[in-house]
Order: sequence, then C-alpha cells, then structure tokens
Amino acid sequence: MIEPCTFVIFGATGNLSQNKLLPALYHLEEASRLPEGAAIVCFGRREWNTEQWRDEVATLLKTRVRKGLDEKVYAHFRARLHYFQGDMTDAQAFQRLKQMLETDHQFPDNKIFYLAIRPAEYGAVSQHLASAGLHEEDGGWRRLVVEKPFGYDLESAQTLEERLHRHFSEQQIYRIDHYLGKGTVQNVLVFRFANIMLEPLWNRNYIDHVQITHSETNGIGGRAEYYDGAGALRDMLQSHLLQMLTLVAMEPPANMDAESLRDEKVKVLKSIRPIPQSAVHAHAFRAQYARGMSNGQKVAGYLDEKGVAPSSSTETYAALKLYIDNWRWRNVPFYVRTGKRMAKATSSIAIRFKHAPQMLFRETVTEQVRPNWVLLGIQPEECLRVEIQAKLPGLKMHTHTVSLDASYRQEFEAQLDAYEALLLDVIEGDHSLFLRYDEVSWAWKVVDPILKTWSMERDFIHTYPAGGWGPGEANRLFEREYQCWRNDLSLEGESGDAACAY
Ligand code: BG6
Repeated sequence: MIEPCTFVIFGATGNLSQNKLLPALYHLEEASRLPEGAAIVCFGRREWNTEQWRDEVATLLKTRVRKGLDEKVYAHFRARLHYFQGDMTDAQAFQRLKQMLETDHQFPDNKIFYLAIRPAEYGAVSQHLASAGLHEEDGGWRRLVVEKPFGYDLESAQTLEERLHRHFSEQQIYRIDHYLGKGTVQNVLVFRFANIMLEPLWNRNYIDHVQITHSETNGIGGRAEYYDGAGALRDMLQSHLLQMLTLVAMEPPANMDAESLRDEKVKVLKSIRPIPQSAVHAHAFRAQYARGMSNGQKVAGYLDEKGVAPSSSTETYAALKLYIDNWRWRNVPFYVRTGKRMAKATSSIAIRFKHAPQMLFRETVTEQVRPNWVLLGIQPEECLRVEIQAKLPGLKMHTHTVSLDASYRQEFEAQLDAYEALLLDVIEGDHSLFLRYDEVSWAWKVVDPILKTWSMERDFIHTYPAGGWGPGEANRLFEREYQCWRNDLSLEGESGDAACAY
C-alpha cells in the first residue's frame, strides 16, 4: 500500500505547476493512484484562499486534462487541494507552514516538497525548510524534488549540491529529468535488454553513427528571463539529450534497481571523450533563430522576443559530436542536436548501421543499397522502426527499403505525461528514474568547456530562419560526407538525398 502524504508545491501558480504538475496529479487521481488521504498544498504569493484556488485550478485543468474535467474525479481532487499564501523569501512563512502542517490533521505526516521554482531559488528554499525544521523526519518521511537545470555549470552544481546536502540526505533528494518519465524513453531499455537480436550488433563493429534529435516549433514563449541566461545547451542538451544518450549507449545493468541503473549511466558519461576548449568548434555548433515562418504564421526572431537582451548571443540551437571512449563505442560518433523554432516538433533516436561488407546488389535498380537504420520515435510519433532491404516482387532483381514498424502505442491507448510516472515514483519512493548527483556532474563536465568557449565568443552567432532545420553550417560536425541529419522517421518523409541516405 502506498503511504498517504502531503505534497507541497512551491511555485504553485507558475508555469510548471499549472501545465504539468497539477494536470499530472489530477490524472493520477483519475487513475485512482493517489494515496487515500493525500493532500496537496500549493504555496504561492498571490492573495488567494483555498476556495478561490480550487476554482482557479478547476478552470485551468479544463484545458489541460486529457478527457475533459470529470466532475466526480474533480470533486475528490478538489478536496485534496489547499492554498498556502506565503513568500518564499520570508523565513516566517515557513514557520507558519510548519505549524499548519503539524496541527491540522488533514495533512499526513509524510511530506514531499516540490521546488517548481527558479533554479536560483533552490538553495534558499531548502535552507528555509530546514530552518523551520520541516526537513526533520520526526513523524514521517521527507522528500525534496528539484527540477533541472541542476546548477548553471559544474561549479554551481557542486555548490547547490553541497547546500542541499547540508540538510537533506541523498535518499531524500529527487533530481528530476522529465525525459526519463517518458514511456518511449524507458522503452529504449526494454528494446535493448529484453531482445537478444540486436545486442550482438549494438557496437562499433556494426553501427556507423547515432543521432539524437529534439526539435521544437515553439520559440521561447514567455521564458526569456530564464532562457536567455541558459540557452539550448544547458536547457536541453546537458540534461535530457545526454540522458537519452546514456540509455542508448550503456551496458546492461546488473539489475533494474536504481543504483545499478545509474551506475551504468554514469560509466557512459565518464567515458565521453573530453572536448578541450581548443577543439570546441570541431565538436559543437550553436545558432539562434531569426524571424521566419512557423506553422504558416510569421514569427519573430529570438532577438525580438520580449525580455531578450538586444545583443544576446544565447543559442536556441545546439549540436554536438561526441565520442564514447569505451570498448563498445570507440570512434562511433554520436550526433546530438536540439533547437527551438524548427520545422517540426519531434524527439527521436536514429541509429545508422554500416553497409553490408559485400555490396552484391549494388547494381540493382535502386542503384545503391541503403544501410539499415533503427529508429526510435520518442514524440510525437511513438514508434520503433527497423529499416531493412528487401526484393521488390517481379522478375527483376530490384530492391527497396522496407520499414518494420512496431508502434509503441495504439491510438486508443492513453498517452501518459512523463510527470505522472515521476510524481508517482516520488510518492512511492523509487529513485530509478531520477538523477544521482554524479550523473549531473559528469554531464556538466561534458558541456562545461563548450559553455566556457561560447561565453567568451559573444560577438557572433550563426542564425537560422524560424521554421527550418537549423543552419547548414551545422553539417560541418559530420565526420563523413555521407552522414547527415535524419529529419524524418518515415521513408516517405526522408529527403531521398543520395548524399545523405546511402
Ligand atoms: C524543458 C525545457 O526541460 O523541456 C524546455 O526547459 C523544453 O525548453 C522542454 O521545451 C521540452 O520538453 P518536452 O517534454 O515538451 O519535449
């Protein structure tokens, strides 16, 4: 049985809470997965009371939940919601919070503190929690959930880590990377380790290169204050994309417990060949979107977005070439890219195999035989595809590429949000899908030299028109001339560009 708990959200009226946390908690309610007696305390600065907040949440959930708001489910959910008016910078507010949580029996003793706030505030809020004694596990357990980015670079991550550990133990800390909560990302592990078929091929002898892509059609929305100081490398690549890379590249763990899994991921990050500052340009590329068209609409360039510094050189596109110097992957390039205001919103992993050693069918009508690809669609398309060569029916020896398709999800199956899985894990105390600090710090070590170099080069940044696939100059990262970005997971959508496809 899951133990009842009080779920306290700091930053409850902010974007993350409204768009992700509250809808995810509602969906857990709908699935009857919230523990009996669980309460949700929303800590916010605005002058609201609990009744007003409950109405507010009903309104915002209407447009954010999958099947529309169910009155019966909401009635249950509504009763769990409480609003606590307070200022996060005020130590007194934490004293009041403690008093309320301890004296009112509606609030179970086990407590989760979710920091849905700006990363710069994590340290101070954890300190206030501790000063009020809210971290002490006197009646029940305490868990602290922190969002990414964990720090700003290696050094600040280390400082934050030390600050959190002054009062919270590792067992109490849950560092979120919401990509690990996506079913399709977890499916990478199942695909690799529950099937024997690919394992003998999953190495430098057979794989030419690996591509990991995350692209969005959206711009930065109203997040300039955070994003202009972060950029694509910190925002997406250091966390979500490197995590996906670890799942593709790791060795099978001894078992599926949190420590074994994270041990293997750390080994991958540790084995990534360090990029010296002198080699940053050969391994990393950045760019910024200029004005263009997105979904048929004219859209502003990054520098015209509200809140962005007029001379900002913050990247909205980042691409890296990484090598993993271990027995399995030595000299296989991993190309990793992310961008905002791109042609399509998609996340995928594309693995290109080498050509068969003897090109027996080179002279067939397709002229050259394409290599095999394994394609893992993370979102919006959730698929697992293997592209192979087959003969076309008929008298002649014509070959073509066939895609073997194992859809991850049928249309009638609900698409769960990553936060549903992760919040449930925090409630149940399972760390497997959360980051250990050594993962975070090794990931910072990978990108730190690039961040340092880019921060010194503020005069120029490549641009790309909004609505495209990023600047062509990013192709300079490719090691071989036949390599290029795979923008589409279907055969029909692929460019057919000979230089690229073969
Ligand atoms: C967040 C980034 O962590 O991930 C955002 O801060 C980004 O900039 C988002 O848009 C992408 O997440 P998803 O789940 O929509 O792919």
